[in-house]
Amino acid sequence: MPPSSAAPVRTTEFAPRLAALMNGHIGQDVFRLEPDTIGVAGPAIADRILAARRATEAERPTFKPLHGRSIAKNEASSVTRTLGNDVREALLKPVPDAVDLSGSWPLTGHLFLRDLILGQDPRRLRMLMSRNLELTPKLTWSVITIGAALPGWPRPRRHLTGLAQRAAQATGYQERRYAMGMYRRAAAPVCFTVSTLVANALWLGSPFDDSTSNRTIIHESLRLLPPSWNILRNASPEYPAVDDRIGENDDVLLLPLLSHRDPSLWDDADAFRPERWDDLDPETAPGYLPFGHVSERCWGRHMVMPLAELLLDLVRGSGLVVDPDQRVGKVPLLGLLGVDDVRLTRPARGRVHSPPNPG
Ligand code: HEM
Repeated sequence: MPPSSAAPVRTTEFAPRLAALMNGHIGQDVFRLEPDTIGVAGPAIADRILAARRATEAERPTFKPLHGRSIAKNEASSVTRTLGNDVREALLKPVPDAVDLSGSWPLTGHLFLRDLILGQDPRRLRMLMSRNLELTPKLTWSVITIGAALPGWPRPRRHLTGLAQRAAQATGYQERRYAMGMYRRAAAPVCFTVSTLVANALWLGSPFDDSTSNRTIIHESLRLLPPSWNILRNASPEYPAVDDRIGENDDVLLLPLLSHRDPSLWDDADAFRPERWDDLDPETAPGYLPFGHVSERCWGRHMVMPLAELLLDLVRGSGLVVDPDQRVGKVPLLGLLGVDDVRLTRPARGRVHSPPNPG
């Protein structure tokens, strides 16, 4: 088992393959993972690989082809701008007084964000944010296929989000199907991924010291439990030229999960220490890639950060704590890295809580 990230009280238990990856390769720069896949965790070589060529459309996370149809760059940037406006508007709304964020995270945070950002959208679109759809892409496509075929397609209306307005303009079955897929593609990372990121932060460090900023907590959580824990680049002639341990048919899996815990890059690498970010720049810290490489950094990070900070602020202000009886947090092997059931409760009277990882 890899070292706990929240010693001494909580233990983070990684799925066996993640644990093997961490136990076997932290501190290595280039290593073979599979007969046709090379792992890369050294910051200098990761930098050269990611700078060697642009990601292909199939390698892009959010705007890879949708149902076999390429998404042009201008469409991707217009969808991102639309979503950015929707998020900005949601952030301006007053937060409902009676919001209860206790329960299992990231599900609870996900539902809160879904309602905050997409609450006014038609059910047919909002249901695309169901976490059950993460189980299989097939299920997602069945819901989309049915949703696009049913009569009563949403009409453009002023109160809808910009993202739903775009979908509402689609005409014909194929366009509607595509519009629903795009709605899910764009909105899922702000609901699923942001709540996963905040759940990870709560697991690693809650309750936080009042003087610790949300921003440093989030940077540190993105370091120890990066939701995007790997970045894939398919075999390409540029890569053997960067390092001769990479064969011409080797895919390259870059592993922020490992570089984020490399003891040669981080003091006390496994410890949750948000204050390290008081003196570090997340844009330039070597080996720190929660939003990808500087040459093609995530377009969504400017909406992700304020949403994550809002959510964290609400939890911190609510007095909720991670259930003191929860000692183990499991991190399954999924595309999105996170503790899958962080239980937030109200502290029992008289029970004293201290941060799990003081100093
Ligand atoms: C916590 C949430 C998110 C995380 C952790 C995250 C992480 C990442 C990472 C690691 C990359 C680099 C991938 C690569 O190089 O292959 C990336 C790229 C990208 N992300 Fe995000 N992302 C998040 C949310 C979003 C959102 C909300 C959007 C907008 C809809 C978005 C849009 C993009 C785009 C368009 C790229 C490709 C950039 C390019 O091609 O230059 N992401 N993201």
